[in-house]
Amino acid sequence: MEQALGRRKEKKGAEDWLRPWEEGKRKRAQKIGSGPGKKRENLQKGKNRRMKYTAVIFDLDGVICSTDQYHYLAWKEIADDEGIYFDEQINNRLRGVSRMGSLEIILERASRAYTEDEKSAMAEKKNEIYRKLLGRMTPADLSEDVAETLKKLKESGIKIAIGSSSRNTPVILKQIGLDEAFDAVSDGNNITKSKPDPEVFLTAAGMLLEDAKNCLVVEDARAGVAAAKSGGFDCAGIGEASQDAETNYPIQKISDLLKIVLQQGAE
Ligand code: BG6
Ligand code: MG
Repeated sequence: MEQALGRRKEKKGAEDWLRPWEEGKRKRAQKIGSGPGKKRENLQKGKNRRMKYTAVIFDLDGVICSTDQYHYLAWKEIADDEGIYFDEQINNRLRGVSRMGSLEIILERASRAYTEDEKSAMAEKKNEIYRKLLGRMTPADLSEDVAETLKKLKESGIKIAIGSSSRNTPVILKQIGLDEAFDAVSDGNNITKSKPDPEVFLTAAGMLLEDAKNCLVVEDARAGVAAAKSGGFDCAGIGEASQDAETNYPIQKISDLLKIVLQQGAE
């Protein structure tokens, strides 16, 4: 009897009571892919999932949407009024350059000097024409490629921001339906020095509370690549910027960023 009780006692020891629970736990763990065996593997996966970049700062014109043709038409009207030669090749030099900086490039071909007041009036008139043209933009001007990329970055917990020289950034974002899309918008309205100075990107990183080394800048202009690099940012370049030797990642389309940002483990 005692032996029987002893055996029963032995049978009902803590280990025995816990065994079914432990067994169930092991099975549940196998089902959800955790448990002691899987734990190390998952930790390793988690480590690989840690991203090198926690934020992406996008230039606007030529990256998120195309406004080149509107800039061209507006500047062309100003240049024609003054009898100054202007073509699309000269327009390409204006990418990433501030409004007044752009005017200075156009005036390289002028046959006379212009006063500061005349220059201000010309820049103001160009902007009036340009703003009217921007009124034609709609959410249809946002490509599927850009829209999907922004969505996937956000879903993956990557912060997104704008870093643009344009003072018309708020208008353009509204026209294409992205006025609520970004975690931060740094543009020509909140900076004193235009690209190639890094101010606009450093301000964007500051708004995001991120260090430059954790942010990837996306640019289409050489002035923008120079700005990013001098601010300590890595840079992905599209179009002309993809040819720049300083660009870290030459890309063909904006969705190429997903491979760079989402599949890159911490170094
Ligand atoms: C940049 C454009 O984004 O903004 C330049 O690439 C432009 O071409 C500059 O000159 C300033 O734009 P805005 O809208 O302030 O005249
Ligand atoms: Mg640009």
